[in-house]
Amino acid sequence: MDRAEAVTIRAMEPSDAAGVSALIGRPGTFEGTLQLPDMAVASRVEHMQKIEPGTCRLVAEADGEIVGSAGLHLAGLSMRRQHVRMLGIGIAEEWQGKGLGRRLIERLLQWADNWAGILRVELVVHADNDPAIALYRSFGFVEEGRHRAYAIKNGRFIDALCMARLHPNPPALPPAA
Ligand SMILES: CC(C)(COP(=O)(O)OP(=O)(O)OC[C@H]1O[C@@H](n2cnc3c(N)ncnc32)[C@H](O)[C@@H]1OP(=O)(O)O)[C@@H](O)C(=O)NCCC(=O)NCCS
Repeated sequence: MDRAEAVTIRAMEPSDAAGVSALIGRPGTFEGTLQLPDMAVASRVEHMQKIEPGTCRLVAEADGEIVGSAGLHLAGLSMRRQHVRMLGIGIAEEWQGKGLGRRLIERLLQWADNWAGILRVELVVHADNDPAIALYRSFGFVEEGRHRAYAIKNGRFIDALCMARLHPNPPALPPAA
């Protein structure tokens, strides 16, 4: 069995908060997010322990260690954006390129399309993040715009792309009885 096949994908529990926080703060992972280097693991734990209704958070676990995490989060509290979720994802450096990102996004989109009635999934990705952009495009995400000087990264301002995917086959009402 391939090592990546032995990885379990499951719902994130409050008890995973420290493991996920450590993962997204690690070199090789934090750079593609908006996390800062050398932040205490504890600085993110309280937020991550909260169960947010309407969201889906997954972890990838290998030998008891969290090696990936991905989630669909509310895009604000307005009723008028209840059909929207924002996607975030991070994989440990030594596990990148082994299909975990694809497995996590597949599972999130199953949840969004078939169970939660989500019509639009959106995200922001740094314009220099070729692996992430290729992965998102392969799931039908399209670029909708470019934020100039969106974030600072290792001493430089970088642009970011906003991307979104609309439900490919939105559920219809059943025929009248
Ligand atoms: C971006 C990231 C989530 C991708 O996850 P991953 O597990 O490494 O990706 P996968 O192995 O599932 O690869 C899926 C696809 O990504 C693309 N990809 C992966 N590595 C790539 C690379 N080095 N160059 C170009 N494309 C690449 C390919 O399209 C690949 O398609 P394939 O399945 O047909 O080979 C992961 O590398 C990561 O967490 N990076 C650091 C944090 C980050 O940037 N998060 C995204 C914030 S928007």
